[in-house]
Formats: sequence, structure tokens, C-alpha cells
Amino acid sequence: MLTNLQTRDVETMIHPYTNLAAFREAGPLVLESGKGVWVYDSDGKPYIEGMAGLWCTSLGYSNEELVETAREQMSRLPFTHIFGGKSNDPAIELAEKLKEIAPMPVSKVLFGASGSDANDTQVKLVWYYNNAIGRPEKKKIIARIKGYHGVTVASASLTGLPANHTDFDLPIKNILHTSCPHYYRFGKDGETEEEFATRCADELEELILKEGPETVAAFIAEPVGGAGGVTVPPVGYYEKIQRVLDKYDVLFIADEVITGFGRLGTMFGSEAVGMRPDTMSCAKAITSAYFPVSAVMIPEKIYAAMLDESRKIGTFGHGNTYAGHPVGMALGVKTIEIYQRDNIVGHVQSMLPGFWKHLDRLRDHPLVGEVRGKGMVAGIELVADKATKRAFDIKKTIGAKATNLAQQEGLIVRNLGDTVAICPPLVINAGEVDELFDKLTRALDRLEAHVRSENLRAA
Ligand SMILES: Cc1ncc(COP(=O)(O)O)c(C=O)c1O
Repeated sequence: MLTNLQTRDVETMIHPYTNLAAFREAGPLVLESGKGVWVYDSDGKPYIEGMAGLWCTSLGYSNEELVETAREQMSRLPFTHIFGGKSNDPAIELAEKLKEIAPMPVSKVLFGASGSDANDTQVKLVWYYNNAIGRPEKKKIIARIKGYHGVTVASASLTGLPANHTDFDLPIKNILHTSCPHYYRFGKDGETEEEFATRCADELEELILKEGPETVAAFIAEPVGGAGGVTVPPVGYYEKIQRVLDKYDVLFIADEVITGFGRLGTMFGSEAVGMRPDTMSCAKAITSAYFPVSAVMIPEKIYAAMLDESRKIGTFGHGNTYAGHPVGMALGVKTIEIYQRDNIVGHVQSMLPGFWKHLDRLRDHPLVGEVRGKGMVAGIELVADKATKRAFDIKKTIGAKATNLAQQEGLIVRNLGDTVAICPPLVINAGEVDELFDKLTRALDRLEAHVRSENLRAA
């Protein structure tokens, strides 16, 4: 039975990434407040936010300094755009800061408001750049199966998940997909992880050669995959990929929308996995999600080409209203100041042994096929048969059942198919890590009892 608030929601809103039919029965979980790693629903029930919202509230909820920063900027200058030569001081400060901390040389920063628009911008810049330097045929962009890059027309095309393409008439032309470097699911019998990584790089090279290297402009990858099921490439994968990209003069775009700002135990994910990107998309934790901000980090060679275009054709015809929004910019500056001042990366590293001790224990759970992840992001894949890796029948919605039970236990996690993702705020402490896994283990134990009693393992 839905509450009044739930009924009003069901009758008025479309929710992203929701089964619209099932939602009419279940209704929403209406959250009202938050503090630290905890959020509270409209009945006052507490939950550990084990997903940091959508992989984003890195400093947790109701951070007083961020609240005060937003209030102060709101009252001083709540809005100014940055079109046509306008600017604002926090935007300048944030751009300088990002250039300083980026893991590769950055010439200019282009602000936006979401991870999707950042990746859309990346696609447009790759095309613009190649036109500018007289290579109009070099336009194709290669992404990966199970990669996640957003939902706008170009970024959803980069995303390598069927739900983002089916019946949306996507992907658009010039976007291709290569192998997903997830060994557990895509490694062949008898193949070592190293051989698998070599095969992934070989398959990328074969695709480039098939399409014609003169037509392939860029490759985009998340250092560690998130929304596609938390996929962690084998050690050495990016080195092998990098060799192929260098050989055919293909730009490397790092999608650091989840992994930027400490998630993998380094300031940027590229550093944790040995990526050498040319350009980078950031969002989410750039403001601890207190304001929608994204940033595309542009290298000098692309900026130089953009500058030439302006000399030739005039205006750079791209950008949106909220780019460089002063409140978001001020929050970005303050968030990065807190990351550095409080050594959040160091804190994450100190939490990792405890976090992974719990995860390692879960490997023995009868439902768990694989535990994977890096730093403070993990995926727990639930399978019908541990020995053969046989998945549950998709219609049994095992992953959704797991997250529902976790929610009953007072823990918010997210299922990506039958993989349960965990990505708590980076400020989580040791006691809260223990509590998170106590709740999750209780939920998985209850699910195991249900699976047995309902005989859900039957093929
Ligand atoms: C790696 C990655 N890229 C891009 C996006 C899209 O970001 P947004 O939802 O802000 O458009 C996401 C969102 O989860 C993401 O995880």
C-alpha cells in the first residue's frame, strides 16, 4: 500500500533507470535528510548510503563547510554565465586547481553540468579537432562493451549497454564498441589474465585495422568500469591498449566521472591503473555532488586547433547555460580544498584493508560468484552456481531482490543486473564499514534462504 507521498510521486514523475511498470506497484523510497554516510527516509528510518548516491557524494551528507560555501556564493553572486567573455572568480580558481591536480598536462578546462554532457563534449571536440587539423575522415570513436558514459545521444552511443540503445535508435554512426576487459565473464577457458589482456588489445587493433586507422580518432574508457557492472581490467591491460592507440595515433579519453577525486585510492583513477590519457571527463565528486558540475580537461594540441578554428570561423559554438555556474564552481574549489586539507586519499587508503577484508569474506558466500573492484568501489556478482559461474535466470531478478533486502536492513546499495555495487562516501569510518557489511551480509543470508525455499537456482 503506497503512502500519499508515494502515490503523488507515481502519478507525476518519470524516474530514470526504473522499470516503470514495477514502480507503479512498489513506489519510491522518499529520502528526507542526510548526515555523514547516513540518509533518512520520510518515516525517519536510517540507511547507510552504500552507493554515495550515484557514486558521487564523496564527502557524505550535510557537510557544513560545503553548505556554508554554497550559501555564501548564492548570496554574493548566485549566477553568471561564462559565454562571450564573461567569467567569475570561483570558475577561474577551479580551472586553475584542476589543471594543477590533473594527472596529465592540461591546457584548458571546459565546464558543463553532467557526466553525459562532458562526454558529449568529448565527442564533439574530437570531431572538431580533426576537422581543424585537416583530417576530416578521422572521426570514429571506440568505446567498450559494458562501458558507461551517459545518456545523451552521443554519450549513450558510447555507453556499451543494450538498455541504452534498444528502441532509442542508438548508437549513432561513427561510434564503435570493442571488448570488455572483464576476465571473469569474458576470459576463455585456459586463458590467463595476461593472455586475456593481450587478446583485448589485439581485438582493439583488429577493429582499428578493419575500420581503417585513418578513420579512427579516439578511444574512451573508464579506468575501472562502474555502471556496467564494476569491471576491473587485468593488470597490464592499459599498457597494451596504450601501445595500440599510440601506433595508430588514436586519442585516449579517460572517463573519470566515477573514479576522479579519490575513489580508487589515488586522486585520479588513471594513476591507479596506469592509463596515460590525452583528455579527461570529470563530474560527480568534483563537488561531492552538492552541485551539478562537469569538467573536460583539454590538452594543448586540441586547444591549439580550437584556437585556429576561431581565427578561421569565429565563435566556438558550444557550451551550456550552467557551465561555470558560480555556486558549482565555489563548491568545486571548496571540495578539492577539503580533499587536500583532510588528505581524503590517505583516509581512503587507511580504510581499504578493512573494506576489503569484509569483501574477501563474502567470496565464500553461497550466492557470490565474484567479488571485484578497486579502492573503495566494489561489485559482488551473484550467481546460481559458483563452480560453473552460471547466472540466475534474469527473470528471477536476484540482484533487485538483494538490494531490496539490503534496504530493509537499512543499507542502500545498487544492483547492476545481478551484481551488487558498493561505493560508499569516501569519508566512511571503520565502524561504519563494519556496519555496512553486517547489513549486507544479513541481506545476502536472507536472500540465500529465499533462493533455497523457492528453488530459484533451477535452470
Ligand atoms: C563513468 C561515467 N560516465 C558518465 C556518466 C554520466 O554522468 P551523468 O549521469 O552525470 O550524466 C556516469 C554516470 O554514472 C558515469 O558513471
